[in-house]
Amino acid sequence: GIMRDVSGINEMEERLKKELNLQEVVIVPGDSDETPWVKQELGRACAKRMKKRLVGENIIAVAGGTTMAAVADMLTFDFIGNTNTLFVPARGGIGEDVKNEANSICAKMAENTGCKHRVLYVPDQVSKEVYDSFVKEPIIKEVLSLIKKANMVLHGIGDANVMAERRNTKEEDMKIIQDGHAVGEAFGYYFNEAGEVVHKVPTVGLKLDDFSHIEHVLAVAGGSSKAKAIKACMKSATNSTVLITDEGAAKKILS
Ligand code: BG6
Repeated sequence: GIMRDVSGINEMEERLKKELNLQEVVIVPGDSDETPWVKQELGRACAKRMKKRLVGENIIAVAGGTTMAAVADMLTFDFIGNTNTLFVPARGGIGEDVKNEANSICAKMAENTGCKHRVLYVPDQVSKEVYDSFVKEPIIKEVLSLIKKANMVLHGIGDANVMAERRNTKEEDMKIIQDGHAVGEAFGYYFNEAGEVVHKVPTVGLKLDDFSHIEHVLAVAGGSSKAKAIKACMKSATNSTVLITDEGAAKKILS
């Protein structure tokens, strides 16, 4: 019955929290690989946790991906209350489609909540010279300094190979990712099973080291196919991280 299912999930949350050494784990029922609307439930659960944590002035740095897009869909006007909240992309372009890009997701979050957002336009496929001069532009520098002041980060987690394919990764980087046995990916960092970084997409914005100074880190990822990826990425996560996942992924991580 329902009650037994609920307590089963609570118990799983506790076990996963211990196993991954995190501050909090939230599990929504179902498996988003099999049932698409479970991703919306991940979005809803994330929105709820964000609301609980937001007070006063906030800068929220957001990564890309379809799961983050689902979070954006669940944010509403009353959600941010009377906080002063700004959405910024966590990092520059990392080869995603426009709809999966952090810039688009921030715009959607701002629109849905009545808050402001900033964009970070850094080209992906340019020479080092162009890139270096680009990031010296005052407008880019200003957004980068806002990103560094973020008190909350929201990010998805992907399977390393799925993400490398989705981003049309250059062959030489593809080789590094494969030879390094990357299994998980988050905000452009590729991790092996031990949680070590084997490759990073060269771009600007938040660095992995910055995460330890950020009060609220919410990682949102579900689907049993992401079990390995979640486990790997959570190895390098700070213990202030909250993982929002689904039953499909949780069961597989714990088995
Ligand atoms: C990327 C993010 O855009 O999306 C990553 O930068 C994340 O943090 C990935 O791993 C996940 O995508 P999705 O579509 O599976 O949520």
